[in-house]
Amino acid sequence: MTTETSTTDSRHRAWSMMAAPVEPVEPVEPAAGGAQSTATLRRAESSNAAADRPRIVGLRCRNCQRAEVTGPNFVCQACFGPLEVVLDREVIRAQVSRAAIMARGPDIWRYLELLPVESVPLRGLAVGSTPLIRADRLASEIGLGSGRLRLKDDTRNPTLSFKDRVVAIAAARAVDFGFDTLACASTGNLAGATAAAAAALGMRAVVFVPADLEPAKVDHALSYGATVVPVNGTYDDINRLSLEIADEEGWAFVNVNMRPYYSEGSKTLAFEVAEQLGWRLPDVLVAPIASGSLFTKVARGFEDLVDAGLVEEKPVRFIGAQPDGCSPVAQAFADGTDEIQPVRAPDTIVRSLAIGSPADGGYALALARRTGGSIEAVPDGATAASIRRLGRTEGLFAETAGGVTVAGLERAVRRGIINDGDEVVALITGNGVKTPDAKWFGLDEDPDADPRSGADPRSGGGDRPPGLSSPIDPSYAAFVRAGLGS
Ligand SMILES: Cc1ncc(COP(=O)(O)O)c(C=O)c1O
Repeated sequence: MTTETSTTDSRHRAWSMMAAPVEPVEPVEPAAGGAQSTATLRRAESSNAAADRPRIVGLRCRNCQRAEVTGPNFVCQACFGPLEVVLDREVIRAQVSRAAIMARGPDIWRYLELLPVESVPLRGLAVGSTPLIRADRLASEIGLGSGRLRLKDDTRNPTLSFKDRVVAIAAARAVDFGFDTLACASTGNLAGATAAAAAALGMRAVVFVPADLEPAKVDHALSYGATVVPVNGTYDDINRLSLEIADEEGWAFVNVNMRPYYSEGSKTLAFEVAEQLGWRLPDVLVAPIASGSLFTKVARGFEDLVDAGLVEEKPVRFIGAQPDGCSPVAQAFADGTDEIQPVRAPDTIVRSLAIGSPADGGYALALARRTGGSIEAVPDGATAASIRRLGRTEGLFAETAGGVTVAGLERAVRRGIINDGDEVVALITGNGVKTPDAKWFGLDEDPDADPRSGADPRSGGGDRPPGLSSPIDPSYAAFVRAGLGS
């Protein structure tokens, strides 16, 4: 499939309407004509020079700052720290503008200048440009005012999770570097995203998942023609295995040797949120945490927008959420320590966030502390109740990570970390069709947990889930007899 960038494209018109600014603000574009100061002229000259320099500088160690060349490298040769991409901020500032972005079609490539890819790939899935939904009904149930809460509905990406964003960047670079096999170590959603991206690019896909993963996620990856390898172990075991395979087989593991590029894909969530808010930042951002990459890269995305002169600088509080059966970052936050204790045997229904040894956990912890946010630990029962609540109040069916996010948001409101006047954006990163049973977790023990699970005949009974009536004969009398009328 070709990625559309035409300004006349119908998807573009749809996106422009969806992205209508909430409170429009004046773009910070350079003034046309008029008297210019010497300083302005000097800035213009230097930005002309900057526009000609390469935008992608290379890689750099996040710990010791050592430089590495652009390539399939991910670990520092000197200190074994993680590598990240360095983009030239001055060049970006000279090349990008709100007007140019807004004139482009929908998908993540509208932010090309802010991403570590040279040009828009010719092939690939249509990823991103997902809606930012005003969620008043959910807001009022959890104690936030009208117009204060928005949900970024990333359940609508091609493979139904935000992982399409990170894979799109990693896959584009894997093609540039000449790989023919795309692989990943997955907690579930990444498997489908990697499989589909590889299919669209004509690459081979091999995905490694925990052997006890939800069947819907395994099936999803199989649907795109991938080889799925169930591994008897935790995600952390699979990650270690992937390191070895990447080295021995020369495959592009999107979240291992391609990780510096992969992680940049999460920034596109920040770009879209800011654009959809009318080129400004929210007061609070709530997101789920597994490895911590998404959480920290959304913050980086906001910083990049400020550096590029696309939004005004503003403090944003970052609130992360983890399932309490695998919450190493939330635990460190609660204990007030910098030491993240790995969770050896995650025990949670939230399989997508079950990473016991999070690669970016320390950075996520520091981000929450630095910004006055928090990291919330959420019991599985609360996750399931929040999935049901989100569906019931907003018509949005989330997978378990979305339940953790909504429950984490509610906890932060209750603890006074989020206040009624705050403008809050919560990221709903995966679709519930991949974890269809999770929403019922804990209902047996707590029938009061859901208002629909009482004696109402529409609530089912026996083995039937709440809301599913017993079968009726095809007559109005049978319908009335079953107590289904209003
Ligand atoms: C749906 C969903 N949301 C959020 C995350 C967290 O991502 P990260 O590892 O970047 O913290 C994952 C990770 O697999 C996921 O599947």
